Amino acid sequence: MVKKLFIETLGCAMNVRDSEHMIAELNREEPYLLTKDAKEADLILINTCSVREKPVNKLFSEIGQFVKHKKKSAKIGVCGCTASHLGEEIFKRAPEVNFVLGARNVSKIREAISKEKFLDVNINYDESAYAFGEFRQNPHKAYINISIGCDKKCAFCIVPHTRGEEISVPHELILSEAERAAKSGAKEIFLLGQNVNNYGRRLSNGKKGEFNFSQLLTQISKINEVKRIRFTSPHPLHMDDEFLEVFASNPKICKSMHMPLQSGSTAILKTMRRGYTKEWFLERAQKLRRMSPDVAISTDIIVAFPGESEKDFADTMEIMEEVRFEQIFSFKYSARPLTTAAQMTNMVDDKTASARLKILQDKHAAILDEMTPNYKDKIFEVYFEELRENGMIAGRTSQNFTVCAEESEKLLGEIKNVKITRPQRLILYGQVV
Ligand code: 5AD
Ligand code: SF4
Repeated sequence: MVKKLFIETLGCAMNVRDSEHMIAELNREEPYLLTKDAKEADLILINTCSVREKPVNKLFSEIGQFVKHKKKSAKIGVCGCTASHLGEEIFKRAPEVNFVLGARNVSKIREAISKEKFLDVNINYDESAYAFGEFRQNPHKAYINISIGCDKKCAFCIVPHTRGEEISVPHELILSEAERAAKSGAKEIFLLGQNVNNYGRRLSNGKKGEFNFSQLLTQISKINEVKRIRFTSPHPLHMDDEFLEVFASNPKICKSMHMPLQSGSTAILKTMRRGYTKEWFLERAQKLRRMSPDVAISTDIIVAFPGESEKDFADTMEIMEEVRFEQIFSFKYSARPLTTAAQMTNMVDDKTASARLKILQDKHAAILDEMTPNYKDKIFEVYFEELRENGMIAGRTSQNFTVCAEESEKLLGEIKNVKITRPQRLILYGQVV
């Protein structure tokens, strides 16, 4: 009987790739069939995120549900950032869990399942040059890690405590992985790291890499079969002119840039230790729009960071209106253990925080309502990569807009011109022309 694996992946694209790596490692020993039903699984993996408090709290009630309904012999493993953060405590709060594997220890998954109990959450463990097996959830798109960990010490962020110090993956490994993936049909290469445009600063041997991020992008674009390159997340601080020029001028680099603002107030940015000011961010975003007129800019914003005044919040709103981000991910500040911001006492009350989040999101919805109708009758190049449940095929434009079309499944894996017939806020509907 083929064993069945249920895997739940929370959090960011890094976690998505870690899940793929774990599946690949498990399959080395014996093939696992993926299932969406935890009740029939022989192995249940929860790949967790710890960036905000809510999902962490949900984890334990979820484990409770799995314990209740799982097959008797099934093992449960907690992996990822919350595993790194809570470690042993997970066994104390949920004794039925068989293993706890940190975000930097995913290569040890086979060892973990071979034991009755297993714990490894070492954040100094270096997997940057580990040769993982091959597994991709989507054959058209290849996620590739280019660095692990993060050296920034943003005051709100737990990630340096769950993913450890920043180490770049040697460029030879990245290039050969990109080549392999592209030759086997992935036209899109998606580079991943906590801070991708700081690439090359330090390899695991302590030396500087041969290429910086801009040079790495150029090298990858030379692979014939690679048609599109994306990356996440860049840090605004490292968006120097060289980077913006390579981004704007290389046709294979998708015109979608994530610029995590966090706050528009220079004073708050300073306490957040982001390393840039309001004016600097605005100047970079405006330069990017000038150099790359069809770019779509997305951002992350935290409202109600400790000490955020009405004036500080107004600065964030001002940047929103100036940059007119095509997409925002916005959050109420959540105090995280181990971070410096968690020591701050000048908390913004929850009612104010919720009100600010609503103002911000409403404003952004209004901006989108102004932008979206302009896409009608426009023609975008779309890379079709997914079959939807309603029978439509879906893909992305270079700007990372989702486009759905009633077209043949045979177009999956193809890049086609699509004329937009019905633009909506989150999905543009169209027809291949
Ligand atoms: N509270 C709220 N949002 C946070 N993020 C990171 N840490 C916190 C926190 N403590 C957000 C940031 C980051 C995104 C991945 O999550 O905006 O860019
Ligand atoms: Fe969540 Fe950050 Fe870990 Fe990704 S790196 S899973 S966003 S805590």
